[in-house]
Amino acid sequence: MDIMVRKANKRDVGGIATILRELQWFDHIDAESFDGTLARVVEDMARCLATDSHTVYVAEGDDGRVMGYASVHWLPYFYLQGLEGFISELFIMESDRGHGIGTLLLESIKQEAKARGCCRLKLINMNKRESYHREFYKKLGWEERSGDFSFEYML
Ligand SMILES: CC(C)(COP(=O)(O)OP(=O)(O)OC[C@H]1O[C@@H](n2cnc3c(N)ncnc32)[C@H](O)[C@@H]1OP(=O)(O)O)[C@@H](O)C(=O)NCCC(=O)NCCS
Repeated sequence: MDIMVRKANKRDVGGIATILRELQWFDHIDAESFDGTLARVVEDMARCLATDSHTVYVAEGDDGRVMGYASVHWLPYFYLQGLEGFISELFIMESDRGHGIGTLLLESIKQEAKARGCCRLKLINMNKRESYHREFYKKLGWEERSGDFSFEYML
């Protein structure tokens, strides 16, 4: 199957909601209806499309199906020499994994980051994930930062 990576548009919300629900990683998503997930994706997609500070890419099959997506946020830091591209989501439908789609999505992000004059890309890959143990990112040249701990403050 031919796979095309392109920037997402409003029509991709159903495909993205389907991928998120298939993951079964998030209790609040598992507990809600498809329409509940869809409504949130619609709202966040509108936010992403309203500004140049966020880019969502989808990988589409030649049947028009969304097989995977990635979101990246372009962040200015006063102490850096260029923007940081922070990848918040990279998810591929389970049946479509292992066919190079994740790699293609990351490649598109890398090209865009270079065009924007970014100095680095960053993401979080939890060490309980299968992709971490398979060293998905390391094999693509990403370096694991040592001494980095992530904190969150839930609201
Ligand atoms: C991690 C993930 C984004 C990678 O995307 P992908 O399209 O499956 O990755 P690719 O096909 O580009 O490369 C995957 C690598 O794993 C191998 N692989 C083999 N079978 C695989 C399978 N069933 N699933 C995933 N990867 C597989 C590929 O051959 C390749 O390794 P290689 O370069 O040594 O040959 C995707 O598997 C995924 O969505 N996983 C669940 C969500 C996740 O962990 N997201 C990232 C962290 S937040």
